[in-house]
Amino acid sequence: PKITFIAHSGQRHTVEAEAGLSLMRAAIDHNVPGIDGDCGGACACATCHVFVEGAWAAKTGVRTQQENDMLNFAAELRDSSRLACQITVTDDLDGLEVTMPEGQH
Ligand code: FES
Repeated sequence: PKITFIAHSGQRHTVEAEAGLSLMRAAIDHNVPGIDGDCGGACACATCHVFVEGAWAAKTGVRTQQENDMLNFAAELRDSSRLACQITVTDDLDGLEVTMPEGQH
């Protein structure tokens, strides 16, 4: 599935993500700036913070409790905030666009 990461600046990176891996991993594997994934996907750093808007929110699922707790430490927290390491890429997510906080670039 194709996933587009959009920086606060408007810069877009579209990657061909591998189903079964996390959205964070897809970004790292394709050198998308703004997603650092410092903790390796353990829900413990919030450097993979993204915003998932509108209909995509339902497709990407709901935050886990641990994700919620971590996001409380994140800058620019919004209702649409997710940790990309907690979203699993599926074929259903083809065309997904996520945006990134201003502080991540
Ligand atoms: Fe650290 Fe997602 S990679 S919270």
